[in-house]
Amino acid sequence: MSEPAEPSAGPPAIEVKDVVREYDNGLVQALRGVSFTIEQGEYAAIIGPSGSGKSTLLHLIGALDHPTRGEVRILGENLREVRSLDQLRAKTLGFVFQLHHLIPNLPLWENVTLPALPLGLSRRERRKRAVDLLGRVGLDHRVDFLPVKCSGGERQRAAVARALINDPQILLADEPTGSVDTETGQQILSLFEDFAREKNRTRILITHNRQIAAEAARVLRIVDGKLVEDTRNDAGEKASEPS
Ligand SMILES: Nc1ncnc2c1ncn2[C@@H]1O[C@H](COP(=O)(O)OP(=O)(O)O)[C@@H](O)[C@H]1O
Ligand SMILES: [Mg+2]
Repeated sequence: MSEPAEPSAGPPAIEVKDVVREYDNGLVQALRGVSFTIEQGEYAAIIGPSGSGKSTLLHLIGALDHPTRGEVRILGENLREVRSLDQLRAKTLGFVFQLHHLIPNLPLWENVTLPALPLGLSRRERRKRAVDLLGRVGLDHRVDFLPVKCSGGERQRAAVARALINDPQILLADEPTGSVDTETGQQILSLFEDFAREKNRTRILITHNRQIAAEAARVLRIVDGKLVEDTRNDAGEKASEPS
């Protein structure tokens, strides 16, 4: 049995404080004052209708975007004050995008190692890591293939490998099972499970799937850019009736 997440002595994995994100000079308010804290080791699902601001929120946490107002901290560090976001992303964060976002003219192994570029590893070391990880997601036979030669499920598994390449402390995934068949979805979730079993790692997953959300220890529901629900399922007990 894996241990339930213990409140850890270190800083929270993620702190989101009064975050507002506007687009088009305030015409669109994607997030309207969202605050929450995720401790290290927690597994949280983000749910909510389409267009409610989930992806926007995950991009802010992933240091891919900045809030219009408010603050995001990763392991205690204010993202506005971090000197190199590239380094922070490479060392701390793994991101699985809603659509796999693989680069079409790079073979899978090179796609998988892109997040390792800021770490300055040799090409040989990068390839070694990629081959190892692609093996773990069942893609040993696709290492040198271009994304276009792979199935949708294979591409999404490659995107998962890419997110895990730097052994990140925090994994962020935007509907990672949304566009794949049930079996691939299960594979992806169990890869995340393996990932989280070690080192008190943190997972945040956006999902439309109630069952997947019910298995997370914590569920955050976003509606119209606001956090309207923050539920903790008791550790070790699966919520059977999500309401
Ligand atoms: N780059 C952008 N420019 C303008 N509006 C955007 C942009 N990205 C997202 N939005 C808008 O912000 C709102 C939230 O979008 P998003 O975070 O993608 O929602 P979700 O992931 O929950 O479907 C939507 O109204 C969307 O149209
Ligand atoms: Mg989205």
